[in-house]
Amino acid sequence: MQVTETKSALMKLLAPLRLEGKRISFVPTMGALHRGHISLVDRARKECDIVVCSIFVNPTQFNNPGDLKNYPRTVKQDSAMLEKALVDIVFLPSVEEMYAPGEIEETFDFGMLDKVMEGAQRPGHFKGVAIIVSKLFEIVRPHKAYFGEKDFQQLTIIRELVNQRKSLTYGIEIIGCETVREQSGLAMSSRNMRLTEDERKEAANIYKALSMIKSEWKKSNTNNAEIINKAIKVIEQNGMMKVEYLEIADEKTLMPVNSENQGKLLRCFAAIQLGNVRLIDNMKLEI
Ligand code: PAJ
Repeated sequence: MQVTETKSALMKLLAPLRLEGKRISFVPTMGALHRGHISLVDRARKECDIVVCSIFVNPTQFNNPGDLKNYPRTVKQDSAMLEKALVDIVFLPSVEEMYAPGEIEETFDFGMLDKVMEGAQRPGHFKGVAIIVSKLFEIVRPHKAYFGEKDFQQLTIIRELVNQRKSLTYGIEIIGCETVREQSGLAMSSRNMRLTEDERKEAANIYKALSMIKSEWKKSNTNNAEIINKAIKVIEQNGMMKVEYLEIADEKTLMPVNSENQGKLLRCFAAIQLGNVRLIDNMKLEI
C-alpha cells in the first residue's frame, strides 16, 4: 500500500496506471474507519483493479467548530485497516494541500436537495462536501466512486453533482452501498466512538423506530403522521434521545411525503441528538 500526502504525488502514481487501462476506484472518507467504510473498500476491490482511499477531515463541511475539533482522528489504526483491506493507495492530504489561501470558492446549485433535512439543520454542510468531493474527483479521476447509503442525502447530492458536471467529472460512476450496522441495529458511524456504553445501547432504539415505521408503512401505506409520532415516542422514551427530524421522503427528490406514496420510492430519514453526539440514519420503505 502506497501512502501519499500531496496531489502531485498521487497524480504521478495514477497516471501510468490509467494509461495501462487499469480501472480505478475511489473511496473518500474522513477516517476513524469502521466496517461501514471497509464495506465500500471491499466492493471497490471486487469491481476495479486499483483502490484509492482518501482520509481527510474536511473543515469546510463542519458547520459546528466543536464537532470538527472533536471529530476522531485515528490515522495509524485506519492505515492498518486499509492495508488489511488491500487498498493500493491512501491519500492523506493536509488542509493546506486541499485549500490554497485566497482561492475562489466554487458555487453549486442542487435545488431543494441540499435545503431539506441535513441541509436545513447544518447550513453550508453540503456545499463543503461538494467542494471537497469535486476537488478529490479532479485529482483521482476514478472510473467508479463509492458512497454509503448511511448518508443517503449526501449520496443523492453527489449523484447530482456528477450529473451536472459531466465534462469536469469524466463520467464517474457513483456506486451507493448499503448501510452496515452493529448487531443492535445501530448504523456504524465514526461518531459512535464518542458515545458512552449506555448511550450506545440506547441508540439501538433508532433502528427499532425505523424498523417499526417500515413495517407499519407496509401495512397501511398512508397516514404516516401517526406512525411517525409513535416512532418518536420509541426514540425519546427514556429521555436520553431527542429527535431533530424524522420524516418519510421521496428517495429521488428528498421531499417529504405526507400521505399516499403515489408509486414513489420512499425512505424514512432521522437525525437524533444523544448526549453531545448527533446521529443520522435512514431506511428504505417497502410498499
Ligand atoms: P465519512 O463519514 O468518513 O464516510 C465515508 C463514506 O463511508 C461515506 O460514503 C459514508 O456514507 C460511508 N459510510 C459511513 N458509515 C457507513 C455505514 N455504516 N455503512 C456504509 N457506509 C458508511 O461521508 C464522509 O466521510 C464525507 O462527507 C466525505 C464524503 C468523505 C467528504 O468529506
